[in-house]
Amino acid sequence: MADGSVSLSGQLAATTLHEAVSSSEVAKAEFSDRVPIRSVVSRPDGGAGLAGHRVRIGGWVKTGRKADKDAFAFLELNDGSCPANLQVIVDASVSDLSPLVPTGTCIAVDGVLKLPPAGTKQKVELRVEKVVHVGPVDPAKYPLPKTRLTLEFLRDFVHLRPRTNTISAVARLRNALAYATHTFFQKHRFLYVHTPIITTSDCEGAGEMFQVTTLISEADKLEKDLIKNPPPSAADIEAAQLLVKEKGEVVAQLKSAKAKKEDINASVAELKKEKENLAKLEERSKLKPGIPRKDGKIDYGLDFFARQAFLTVSGQLQVESYACCLSSVYTFGPTFRAEHSHTSRHLAEFWMVEPEIAFAELKDDMNCAEAYVRFLCQWLLDNCFDDMEFMADKFDKTCIERLRMVASTPFERISYTEAVELLEEAVKGGRKFENKVEWGIDLASEHERYLTEVKFQKPVIVYNYPKDIKAFYMRLNDDSKTVAAMDVLVPKVGELIGGSQREERYDVIQQRIKDMGLPIEPYEWYLDLRRYGTVKHCGFGLGFERMLLFATGIENIRDVIPFPRYPGRADL
Ligand code: 4AD
Ligand code: MG
Repeated sequence: MADGSVSLSGQLAATTLHEAVSSSEVAKAEFSDRVPIRSVVSRPDGGAGLAGHRVRIGGWVKTGRKADKDAFAFLELNDGSCPANLQVIVDASVSDLSPLVPTGTCIAVDGVLKLPPAGTKQKVELRVEKVVHVGPVDPAKYPLPKTRLTLEFLRDFVHLRPRTNTISAVARLRNALAYATHTFFQKHRFLYVHTPIITTSDCEGAGEMFQVTTLISEADKLEKDLIKNPPPSAADIEAAQLLVKEKGEVVAQLKSAKAKKEDINASVAELKKEKENLAKLEERSKLKPGIPRKDGKIDYGLDFFARQAFLTVSGQLQVESYACCLSSVYTFGPTFRAEHSHTSRHLAEFWMVEPEIAFAELKDDMNCAEAYVRFLCQWLLDNCFDDMEFMADKFDKTCIERLRMVASTPFERISYTEAVELLEEAVKGGRKFENKVEWGIDLASEHERYLTEVKFQKPVIVYNYPKDIKAFYMRLNDDSKTVAAMDVLVPKVGELIGGSQREERYDVIQQRIKDMGLPIEPYEWYLDLRRYGTVKHCGFGLGFERMLLFATGIENIRDVIPFPRYPGRADL
């Protein structure tokens, strides 16, 4: 590839697979005395070259059966290190076989790797000499029986579903894409910046933020406390006031009678005690159940952060403050959107990769996005081919071909105006869309997918969108109608990346914030980046789960994140 990224990806692939090349040594797991199944079965010889080796293996039984009148058990064992299982054979003289065979059972065993009888599928199998550990399963109760389960069914068991072939393959692919992401940006000398999860700025200005507050739990606590210890009555306070008055008089009397110093001190101490008691009672008498209010509004001054706070929808604004001094940076973290979308492409909590580049314009942004996506595709081909073959077999026959195509094909680039023209032509040619096509609309998923899947059959970058449908921070173009935005659209998914050149001109961005009806105050710090040492810069956000949908061909985004959060659901 043009930027040399493939060769690096290839090199790393070679290093990771080093253990599995042709050595007659078995590579042990780090920090454990077991041998990962991968280092046996993922060798080019399928493990045959290791016959005769004595190893300890641990894993969970995928399928188990007794054979030869219960003289043996055959177990297909998987430890998550690769999609393939290791066939394990246990003799009844070694162990009681019944607890070993149910699906889901965990075992650790010592044994010898042997060549199987000719004509069998596997290249090597393990003859067990000793069972070291059994974590049994009651098959009558285990929620994940051996039968094929739908991904939808598995969403009710998010803590057990990584035991399935599909979800464990997704976990490995996800891990690989995260590693590839850091490799790509580190290789290009981008600095990884941790942006905050709790924020007081709405990056997209769309008001889709989850609020972070302790006001509700504090109000709940207070309500319970007031029931247990009711606040003092007016009579209690009057009595306390009377006591203060009396103690004050005693002090005055003692002073005027020139009493002994110790006696005066003692009565002053009593007066102080009663005053403190009165203050406490008065404080408690002010406590009211419910959320505190001031001037008819909720009093956020009393909230945890003494102001309203939210979960971030994007790390972009904060990462810009680092780009405007460290030049090339990126953030990669969870983001949250309280949109009530029940689609297969939206989550309430998802992960985003957001690079930000100073001294760069929209074209540089597109080049970076394209190089990054192509690098990710090549990485999966180089490092995760076994998991990709599984996906091709079970979910999407075309997924490997798609990765190859994207890794090797330059992306199409068209302006928004051209995109609308193409869609209008398509409508004229008889294509039906649910959403109307005209200049000014936000492209719907069906439009995006038409462009990338039907029209160009490859990734398409659409740039220069109408300013009214895009966020305030995007740079206004000279036509005053469009902004320097770009979206990367890919087959299977539609929008994978959203990005833009940022508005670096103080006057223009200030006006844009106002025009969009957003309050200036929360963005003052952001405007400082333009007031002091402003610079042309750009960046984008790649939806990490969308990338997984694209790579695997899995249909629903809820199945490519370990613990999906969406309206009505946040398990564990
Ligand atoms: O286009 P978006 O909203 O862009 C931003 O947030 C910018 N601040 C990014 C930047 O310039 N630094 O979101 C970026 C990507 C989308 O293209 C999409 O892939 C993904 O994030 N995305 C979602 N993924 C899952 N669930 C959701 N609700 C998503 N919303 C956006
Ligand atoms: Mg977008």
